[in-house]
Amino acid sequence: MDIEALFGLSGKVVLITGASSGIGLHIAKVYAQAGAKVVLAARRRDRIDKAVAELRLQGHPALGVYLDVTESASIAAAFQEAESHFGAGIDVLYNNSGIIYQKPFLEQEESEIARVFDTNLKGAMLVAQEAARRMAMRGSGVIINIASTAGLRAGGMLSSYGASKAALIQMTEVMALELASKGIRVNAICPGNIETDMQESLKAFEQALIRRTPMKRFGRPEDLDGVSLLLASEAGRYMTGVSIPVDGGQVLAWM
Ligand SMILES: NC(=O)c1ccc[n+]([C@@H]2O[C@H](COP(=O)([O-])OP(=O)(O)OC[C@H]3O[C@@H](n4cnc5c(N)ncnc54)[C@H](OP(=O)(O)O)[C@@H]3O)[C@@H](O)[C@H]2O)c1
Repeated sequence: MDIEALFGLSGKVVLITGASSGIGLHIAKVYAQAGAKVVLAARRRDRIDKAVAELRLQGHPALGVYLDVTESASIAAAFQEAESHFGAGIDVLYNNSGIIYQKPFLEQEESEIARVFDTNLKGAMLVAQEAARRMAMRGSGVIINIASTAGLRAGGMLSSYGASKAALIQMTEVMALELASKGIRVNAICPGNIETDMQESLKAFEQALIRRTPMKRFGRPEDLDGVSLLLASEAGRYMTGVSIPVDGGQVLAWM
């Protein structure tokens, strides 16, 4: 068995949304190391450009594209630019952009609720639609939605965030159902607490969260490497419609 061929992404074009920081930036580097041509997409162009320059210096084919998932015109433009640059369609979408507001249910403002759903759900859906339409024409593709354990269990002060991620998990299943016949696999990853900028808003609860995590630590972006490679590669060829927690056992001990 050729393990490299099984888990590798040689020659594949992968578009990662939210690649300007945290999980998205890290996974873009992992996929590049696995042989993929990577497209880093987000709004903060300076960060994307810096990451792309570093990847190219290491010899990896990489492209940065501006993307605001709340603007459908920018989604179409990003895919167009990526496909023109590499002269090939997107093989894998890592659908990762997301935002969080951690506030009590009664204090969440309408604008914050709208922003969370526009980014985490509607934005993710529009990006996935754009990818799936293009993949369907070629008869193959992989979509990985980044959900959260907050979409599997109730997390205090995460009503809009948790609801958006629960909906993303449901959307993953429906997409998998509808798109299998077009050669497209769709799965989700549900990270627990992962040390990124997003965790800054949870600082006050850090120790309590670690105490209730069976593995007694927060995750790091690299803890998502294995599952991200599995789902993107040939190794995951018979997997679709699953949402996989990567959380040090958090959902098992949820109270
Ligand atoms: N860290 C955790 O504990 C954790 C746990 C479970 C799930 N997640 C999920 O993992 C994903 C990545 O989060 P992270 O932890 O890596 O946090 P992060 O460092 O804050 O990354 C979030 C990314 O989303 C992008 N983004 C936000 N709004 C966007 C928009 N309108 N259009 C395009 N991109 C947008 C940001 O890029 P720009 O601002 O440059 O556009 C940024 O690159 C999110 O979906 C998050 O919900 C994280």
